[in-house]
Amino acid sequence: MKTVFVTRSLPVDAAALAPRGVRVVTGAHERPLSAEEIASGAAFAEGLVPQLTESIDRALMERLPALRVIANYAVGVDNVDLRAAQERGIVVCNTPDVLTEATAELAFALLLALARRVREGERMVRTGAYTGWSPSLLLGRELSGATLGLFGFGRIGQAVARRAAAFGMRVLYTARRETGHEEAAERVCARRVPFESLLLESDAISIHAPLETTTRHVFGPAAFRAMKPGALLVNTARGALVDEEALVAALRSGRLGGAGLDVFEHEPAVHPGLLDRDDVVLLPHVGSATRQTREAMARLALENCFAVLEGRPPRSPVF
Ligand code: GLV
Ligand code: GLV
Repeated sequence: MKTVFVTRSLPVDAAALAPRGVRVVTGAHERPLSAEEIASGAAFAEGLVPQLTESIDRALMERLPALRVIANYAVGVDNVDLRAAQERGIVVCNTPDVLTEATAELAFALLLALARRVREGERMVRTGAYTGWSPSLLLGRELSGATLGLFGFGRIGQAVARRAAAFGMRVLYTARRETGHEEAAERVCARRVPFESLLLESDAISIHAPLETTTRHVFGPAAFRAMKPGALLVNTARGALVDEEALVAALRSGRLGGAGLDVFEHEPAVHPGLLDRDDVVLLPHVGSATRQTREAMARLALENCFAVLEGRPPRSPVF
């Protein structure tokens, strides 16, 4: 009998999906598990399904000698030490594709909320501060005709580009890979530009790149200085791509026009300088949080895990 350890319960019946000869054990707490708890829960497990809030580092892998596959319940794998896994012959999988549309929708929700000052208007109505229509009440910006810059043009970046094109926006993007995105770009008339031009020309920038050593704090003081004055920033990727301290400074100085954040540098902590600002919209990391997407992520993560244990190729290996 092989064992898969799922660190907390998933929105599908994992045990019922397990193939013959595989048993699923689920962690006993509805919170992120500590390394100690994962080490004891997965001590004899061949498969592990962790959450993005759990760090699976080298030291932990060394305590899991039977481990053959880590099937992360997320598309981002910055919580897993990929090199350590590779050295130990452990397959790492993630959950791409199934969360693309949901995450793109949320990025767009943040963009619209910022552009049209949804948060301020909502509060005005609820608090009774709305006393009647006025020609100058809560004037926002129009997305139509504005330039959206996408930092990253993978699946989610492309899905945001399709939405932007439908809104009549001009789309620019940066991409790490040299090729493979031309067709998607052409369909929405998106233009690939160097990072400097993205900063300089975009009325709003949306981040859709993984957190890696090369992307940590790419949006820091220098980037904010180079951005168009009054530009908006949306982040539904990982918090640490943005230097939160520098972001707060850029908002305070009026250099940036607003920020829509679904992720934070020190999640779940939020920089106090962001909390009381009207030009900031904050969400609790819910990019993929629709019922159908979370179920699809669960099925995919489990299927990846089961595939490796049965000697089949997993559907979405990271390497
Ligand atoms: C969510 O943040 C994910 O990486 O799936
Ligand atoms: C606004 O409500 C309008 O009718 O123009």
